[in-house]
Amino acid sequence: MIVLGIETSCDETGIALYDTARGLLADTLYSQVAMHAEYGGVVPELASRDHIRKTTPLIQETFARAGIGFRDIGGVAYTAGPGLIGALMVGAAIGRALAWSLGVPAVGIHHMEAHLLAPLLAEPRPKFPFIALLVSGGHTQLVAVDGVGRYRTLGESIDDAAGEAFDKTAKLLGLPYPGGPALAALAQAGTPGRFQFPRPMTDRPGLDFSFSGLKTAALTAIRALGSEASPADKADIACAFEAAVVDTLIIKCRRALEATASTQLVMAGGVAANQRLRAALAALDASVFYPPPQLCTDNGAMIAFAGAQRLTAGQREPLAISTRARWPMDELGIPHG
Ligand code: KG4
Ligand code: ZN
Repeated sequence: MIVLGIETSCDETGIALYDTARGLLADTLYSQVAMHAEYGGVVPELASRDHIRKTTPLIQETFARAGIGFRDIGGVAYTAGPGLIGALMVGAAIGRALAWSLGVPAVGIHHMEAHLLAPLLAEPRPKFPFIALLVSGGHTQLVAVDGVGRYRTLGESIDDAAGEAFDKTAKLLGLPYPGGPALAALAQAGTPGRFQFPRPMTDRPGLDFSFSGLKTAALTAIRALGSEASPADKADIACAFEAAVVDTLIIKCRRALEATASTQLVMAGGVAANQRLRAALAALDASVFYPPPQLCTDNGAMIAFAGAQRLTAGQREPLAISTRARWPMDELGIPHG
């Protein structure tokens, strides 16, 4: 079955065609980053309007690249949540309508489930069950993945997500949006050890995270330097911040692996593109799966793939189009018809 995947939950329009027999046929991505950069963050209404402009042309381009026609697909998958409600509605309405017009089934996909299953699109592939570290702009979660739709949240952030902490700290350092990659690049020039930031919530049992205090620690360090903060000072602060986030994530990953006696760890979400995190995870006593960076950040391929899993299991969306800004992953069932 060939599935069209549509991702419009935030500031990226991602379209892909995935074939259950042949794998990924084609994918296209349009990032709105340049448009939002002027405002220092995603402006929801601008995001929705841009998805309206880009989704249909990108769908046409994806079909052209794959060399197939609309009639060749067996279903449509679109991100139904969580995310910006207006942005979600664009992809959902276009996807649902297209499926209806072609007489094929549609399925609404949970964005984080798609991130979680994305590593199965790359080689080498993890096998169920595995532990997933989901680190994106909106979520930080450790999830036990027993199969498609069989997820147990082991721990999550009680405040800022890891990516959010990267973005906010980058802003404090005067870096452009999106801050994560910019902060990571600056950190490379920093001197490790000059600043020491805490490893939040690692001194007590449990798998939850808290990253908002790290942003405050960075702010305190910047203020202590006053107007004197040089580019080298900023690089040192970026380096200390990144080390604290990476260390904290590693400590919790190790705990999650031990608590569940798991031997496989999968990384997903935008922050999983971070090179220092990747290098640190390699030292864990487990097989670690790192999908290529383009599968870590938002994309259409992961939606098409998750959609294929659910559609082939018989799951169908009614004609009513529903999207959810908030959607706890534990509410996701195993695929059903
Ligand atoms: O998964 P994603 O593309 O979108 C969401 O669903 O949130 O994740 C985006 C997040 C942003 O916070 C961005 O700053 C962060 O991932 N990010 C990084 C890196 N690349 C992206 N954070 C740290 N280091 C990176 N190299
Ligand atoms: Zn995402």
